[in-house]
Amino acid sequence: MSPTDPEGYRVTSRARWADAAGAWGANRQSLQAAAEPVSQWMVDAIDPQPGHRVLELAAGPGDTGFLAAELIEPGGTLISSDHVDEMVDQARARAAELKITNVEFKTMDAEWIDLPTADLDGVLVRWGYMLFADPATALRETRRVLRPGGRLALAAWADPAENPWAAVPRAELAAMGAAEPPEPGAPDMFAFRDPGRIVGLLEETGFEDIVVEQVAIVYHYPSLDEWWDTMLDISAVLAGAVGALTPAQRDDLRDAVDARLAQYVSADGSAALPGLTHVAAAGA
Ligand SMILES: C[S@@+](CC[C@H](N)C(=O)[O-])C[C@H]1O[C@@H](n2cnc3c(N)ncnc32)[C@H](O)[C@@H]1O
Repeated sequence: MSPTDPEGYRVTSRARWADAAGAWGANRQSLQAAAEPVSQWMVDAIDPQPGHRVLELAAGPGDTGFLAAELIEPGGTLISSDHVDEMVDQARARAAELKITNVEFKTMDAEWIDLPTADLDGVLVRWGYMLFADPATALRETRRVLRPGGRLALAAWADPAENPWAAVPRAELAAMGAAEPPEPGAPDMFAFRDPGRIVGLLEETGFEDIVVEQVAIVYHYPSLDEWWDTMLDISAVLAGAVGALTPAQRDDLRDAVDARLAQYVSADGSAALPGLTHVAAAGA
């Protein structure tokens, strides 16, 4: 299901991600330290070979695609893309640090992939499709640009109960009446929590040989304060909801969140917050 006003959603989504792009770049290293096993699963699943053309959609700072870039040498090209220039700039800066030269950068929406039909050997989309206004359109576009037999690998968050690092602030905001739970089926980070939705969409859009697995990850922070500051930096939605609270409500929210996350905090104050993601692979 699409949101009721898909074009309005796209405009708001672009503005939010453009705002958050700098923070995604600044926090890239710690986020990727936790998420590397997910990237690795996805890259293995598309089986990159020298000479391949690989696209990363919704790439953010680009880490997953950059793992594939080396494997498609010599002769292969990675296209690293996102729907906002600000994120593409983050990926470009990271590629320069890594001295990756077989990469092209493109600002484009995953629902309108500006590439020829049957152009690619592999597509990578980590934590993207469930955020798009119309994931089925994005998947049909993905299949169109893959050559027959080309491979897609994606990641999408599993159940909120398995992802306290992101779900607890949302649940406590909702409990305070300060956030609405998302409409069922609307774009949201947990919209693909049911792996059946992933399989259903992949089948509906013509993909074959579908595999869905789960990868567990752990986000490490020196303290819950550092985790909280990072969350407010990388999530414009959370920052907006928290920004609308009074100072007293903000204190209450933090107390409630800290109490729920106390089980993940060690004696030295450091936090190890678990997460679980679905990973899926399919052939075009
Ligand atoms: C949760 S972040 C994930 C970033 C990166 N894939 C990663 O795993 O670190 C979602 C990314 O999707 C991008 N995005 C959201 N909607 C998009 C769309 N319709 N088309 C392309 N990119 C989109 C955002 O700008 C953001 O970079």
